[in-house]
Amino acid sequence: MTGTQTVWSALPFPALILDAHDQVTDVNSVAEEFFNASRNALIGAKVLSETHCDVDLVPVIARARTEAVPFTAAGVLIEVRGMTPVVCDVDINVLEQETGHILALLRPQDTAMRFGKRSSPEAAALSAIGMAEMLAHEIKNPLAGIKGAAQLLSMNLEPDGVELTNLIVSETKRILGLLGQVEQFGNLLPPNRKPVNIHDVLDRARQSASVGFGRHMVFVENYDPSLPLTYADLDQLVQVILNLLKNAAEAQKVSGTIWLRTFYDHALRRRQDKDGQQHSLPLQVEIIDDGPGLPAAIEDQIFDPFVSGRENGTGLGLALVSKIVADHDGWISVTSNPGKTVFRISLPVADDFLEKEAS
Ligand SMILES: Nc1ncnc2c1ncn2[C@@H]1O[C@H](COP(=O)(O)OP(=O)(O)O)[C@@H](O)[C@H]1O
Ligand SMILES: [Mg+2]
Repeated sequence: MTGTQTVWSALPFPALILDAHDQVTDVNSVAEEFFNASRNALIGAKVLSETHCDVDLVPVIARARTEAVPFTAAGVLIEVRGMTPVVCDVDINVLEQETGHILALLRPQDTAMRFGKRSSPEAAALSAIGMAEMLAHEIKNPLAGIKGAAQLLSMNLEPDGVELTNLIVSETKRILGLLGQVEQFGNLLPPNRKPVNIHDVLDRARQSASVGFGRHMVFVENYDPSLPLTYADLDQLVQVILNLLKNAAEAQKVSGTIWLRTFYDHALRRRQDKDGQQHSLPLQVEIIDDGPGLPAAIEDQIFDPFVSGRENGTGLGLALVSKIVADHDGWISVTSNPGKTVFRISLPVADDFLEKEAS
């Protein structure tokens, strides 16, 4: 081993060398661990621009290159899929000015920082979910006790008193329901994926919506029947569609229309899964409604947990949707205007996974 190689592998934090196009040409083993991907998978990838960060590193790198001076982006929240987000100071050093090669060092800050001084909304939301789950678990039992006690009390009370105990019972029920949702979020298992016809998913969700929360809505199906199978956990995808239908139905009190649309579009998007494999996402599923559209104040945060535009909303519906879609290597996006709100989910095809498993 040469001296440089020894230093390279002894570096205690993730280090990457990028070429002039920001493609990785080398990584150390800590970086493989950090990005949860092999060296082979990382080489050639535009890892820093494709990983979710709360600071766009691309212009920082470009500036370091043109000005040929080292830069440090301090306190960048880096979120590698499937891993706990980490706050890092990212050092950018120009290695060779002629070729544009740079060295990027990701120095994680003390993990305690993430929950203390750090005020990144993503980190806060993630730790808030953990806290909420713990609380939900702790509160549920005593709450069930309170509910039971109120029900017992009501047996020996005058009508005035019964009215109050009924209030206790109905409010505790509501809180128990909310806590159940928080717990459901935490209990979500990794998807058990099989080839699935997306139309079966849509039919199941539509049927249950049209006899329940969506009774006041008209449902219109616009399916491409030739669509290939996707690779998914059927129950989890039904949950996704149900949550979207529920929001669309709740957006309009009296009546309205919800369109369920599927189509094939190869050109749209690609996504890298946790093993570093690229998948194209040609299956498009859209849930469209003619309601008032997203409230402007929360438009940018609707996928974050606990963000709700509704009285009594939990803000967990779309957070769950976005988690499940990400676990399926898919994408979700939304465009919203008064009179037309479109949630689009882009999913991979099953063959893409089955071929890889067979090979
Ligand atoms: N189809 C829609 N039309 C209008 N607003 C929507 C729609 N879908 C979601 N929203 C807005 O996004 C918010 C967050 O939704 P969600 O995460 O499901 O939480 P919740 O339904 O508990 O409020 C909703 O409260 C609502 O304001
Ligand atoms: Mg909802």
